[in-house]
Amino acid sequence: MRLEKLILANFRNIQSADLRPGEELTVITGANGQGKTNLLEAVWLLTGAKSFRGAKDPQLIREGQQFAVMEGAIFRQDRGEDYIRITVGTKESPRPGRTAKLNGADAGRASNLAGLFTAVVFEPGDLELVKGSPERRRRFIDAALCQLYPGYLATLRRYSRLIAQKNSLLKFWERTPGAAEMCDAFDADLAVQGEEIRRRRAAFLDGLAPLAKKNYEEISSGSEALSLCYRCGFETGGLAGTLAASRMADRKAGYCTAGPHRDDLELELDGRPAKNFASQGQQRSAVLSIKLAEAALAAEVTGEHPVMLLDDVLSELDPARQEYLLTRVRQKQTIVTACDSSLFHKAAGVMLKMDGGRLSEG
Ligand SMILES: Nc1ncnc2c1ncn2[C@@H]1O[C@H](COP(=O)(O)OP(=O)(O)O)[C@@H](O)[C@H]1O
Ligand SMILES: [Mg+2]
Repeated sequence: MRLEKLILANFRNIQSADLRPGEELTVITGANGQGKTNLLEAVWLLTGAKSFRGAKDPQLIREGQQFAVMEGAIFRQDRGEDYIRITVGTKESPRPGRTAKLNGADAGRASNLAGLFTAVVFEPGDLELVKGSPERRRRFIDAALCQLYPGYLATLRRYSRLIAQKNSLLKFWERTPGAAEMCDAFDADLAVQGEEIRRRRAAFLDGLAPLAKKNYEEISSGSEALSLCYRCGFETGGLAGTLAASRMADRKAGYCTAGPHRDDLELELDGRPAKNFASQGQQRSAVLSIKLAEAALAAEVTGEHPVMLLDDVLSELDPARQEYLLTRVRQKQTIVTACDSSLFHKAAGVMLKMDGGRLSEG
């Protein structure tokens, strides 16, 4: 997978930009608040996904403007060149929301592009994969799966909509005539979607876990072992039964207590939960291992290595881990941001500077 060209207009603090990334490394340096992460965010949005910063669409539009536009020429072995254009319009604009064009033709919602351009972001907030909530880890798995299997997003959306509907039924149960029959109908559909989510997530973890374990071994010289385990509250084929058995608990709680929206990804070091037992350094190694595993797995599944977006992570790693990361991304297209350009003196790549939203040769 290669990004050949990126053109931006009115994206966050970037009035306009025209980026020709290198085939391998592109380094963007600049002081804080200049627009480095904004640029990576724009590249990421070409995947069709929402911002990795959790930003709402209107926040992406440059203040005072109606539209932000991101255009990318991408190249993949199996399709050759494609031209993606994503537009984000304000609510008041003639074209609100995040929409896409592919090779000049309307493609509807940006999320319809999922799977075409693939990227993996690694940023300081990823430490939350270890320290954060199960929700954060589910989001990681789901975001990766959306890029790998275009149909997965539809399944997820359908499942979440059903959960929202069932939750509101549980809340107003007494006032709803025929509540039990309605709930049976929701459960039947939830079981179908939920089993599919479980199947995809479990298969993803089967692929990811050994790769992450091996990466961790390499980073830590085998001093401890990283294991990833998908924790799901029901067995394959058992969701319908679990939902039926949870009916009373659900009614008492007033929300759905069972299903893949409660799953977790367990991270352990030598059999102990990384969240409580790992040092800061070990947690960073774990996240680095997982992110590199995500990229390698995507390459295995799709036949195209995703573009690597490394936002401000090098300064957080010690020299040995910096070296490991930079060695691993060699020969893969990688865009790195950093405040300090001295980390890259020896590196061969495209060097750029970001200053007040303006990109220039560094
Ligand atoms: N919608 C927007 N319109 C204009 N400026 C924005 C918008 N969103 C963010 N910014 C500005 O972008 C800057 C942050 O850019 P960022 O890419 O996070 O910096 P860094 O170089 O540290 O990664 C801030 O100055 C912020 O005010
Ligand atoms: Mg930043």
